[in-house]
Amino acid sequence: MKRTGYLLGVGLLLAVLAPAAVALDIVGIDVVGDIHFVRKVKGDDSVPPAVFPHWVHLVNFKCFVCHNKTVGFQMKAGSADITMDAIENGKYCGVCHKGEPAFGVSFETCDRCHRK
Ligand code: HEC
Ligand code: HEC
Ligand code: HEC
Repeated sequence: MKRTGYLLGVGLLLAVLAPAAVALDIVGIDVVGDIHFVRKVKGDDSVPPAVFPHWVHLVNFKCFVCHNKTVGFQMKAGSADITMDAIENGKYCGVCHKGEPAFGVSFETCDRCHRK
């Protein structure tokens, strides 16, 4: 009886996980991966290009929170023309990275986004 319960548990778990895996597969990529931006705007080259850790954000937000016309992120790396000016004017990453709900831009935080 115990064993049946265990198997049923595993079965249910797979039933829940499989559609999730399929859903991500339809999107066609490994969504959990980090996005390493390629710099588009000339700037201080001693600052490495920014990295966007998708996974950390997926824990807090649904896809459409960022993937919509207002925030401006498309599901294609390199689509958005992100600059520090835009971020500090509250666009793109700056919609959230302004102290609340996420850390803002300051000299203490540069290397949280800009890292190798
Ligand atoms: C919330 C994340 C985040 C923080 C914090 C942040 N940046 Fe950026 N920054 C970006 C992104 C995204 C880009 C666009 C991709 C790139 O060029 O690296 C960018 C672009 C840049 C650029 C390219 C030129 C430009 O003006 O857009 C420089 C230089 C830069 N950042 C320096 C800094 C410095 C210095 C700090 C700290 C004072 C900082 N950044 C803090 C995310 C961040
Ligand atoms: C906190 C914001 C945020 C959330 C939430 C988010 N994304 Fe993203 N996503 C981004 C950013 C930023 C990019 C890079 C866009 C660019 O470079 O122009 C991106 C890029 C992508 C890409 C393209 C990856 C590539 O390599 O081309 C896909 C696919 C994607 N997201 C799917 C999703 C899905 C599915 C979800 C929900 C499960 C999700 N995203 C949630 C911000 C987010
Ligand atoms: C919808 C809101 C939202 C947007 C848009 C967003 N972030 Fe975040 N981000 C968060 C929150 C919330 C956290 C976790 C809280 C914190 O660390 O302050 C976070 C954490 C991070 C971290 C720290 C991850 C770690 O390892 O602890 C980095 C780096 C980061 N974001 C970069 C970016 C960059 C780059 C962009 C734009 C391309 C971006 N974020 C856009 C909300 C957002």
